[in-house]
Amino acid sequence: MKFFIDTANLAQIKEAQALGVLDGVTTNPSLMAKEGITGKDSILKHYVDICNLVDGDVSAEVNALDFDGMVREGEELAELHEQIVVKLPMTKEGVMAAKYFSDRGVKTNVTLVFSAGQAILAAKAGATYLSPFIGRIDDSSWDGIELIAQISHIYNVQGFKTEILAASIRNALHIVRCAEAGADVCTCPLDS
Ligand code: G3P
Repeated sequence: MKFFIDTANLAQIKEAQALGVLDGVTTNPSLMAKEGITGKDSILKHYVDICNLVDGDVSAEVNALDFDGMVREGEELAELHEQIVVKLPMTKEGVMAAKYFSDRGVKTNVTLVFSAGQAILAAKAGATYLSPFIGRIDDSSWDGIELIAQISHIYNVQGFKTEILAASIRNALHIVRCAEAGADVCTCPLDS
């Protein structure tokens, strides 16, 4: 299982990189805002700074909710650096955008996933990564780890190549249980 760090904090990314077990980074607009990074130019520069700190994939999220907007923003993000993965929401338009980018060889991360049906759709669209939100599923009194196990089973049976990227990780036990359940990647804050 790969380890990604879920932050836009450069000091924490450096610290995780120094541990020698970091495989990539996930970010989102609220994590950027938490670091005081606002405004398009600053955000785009920050993504490049992150890519220059780590060797692996760096997820950069689109803000648009419509297909054309996602494609426009995603193309701009993908051009920033070869390590950028375009992060798209799990919506009808997001799935269409994932297909658009996968047809063009651009890596994608379909995020905000809460069901196995959504996981099948994203895999059909050729998503590189799929991000089920474990902690938030637990918050709504379902079992996030069970969903990871279910998706892992489906992907194995069907031969889908999409990697399961467990997100919304809240504690160390989540990480261990994700590894048991077949997650390909776990993205966590440094303190998990
Ligand atoms: O990876 C998604 C994450 O940033 C959301 O986590 O704890 O707010 O559900 P959380």
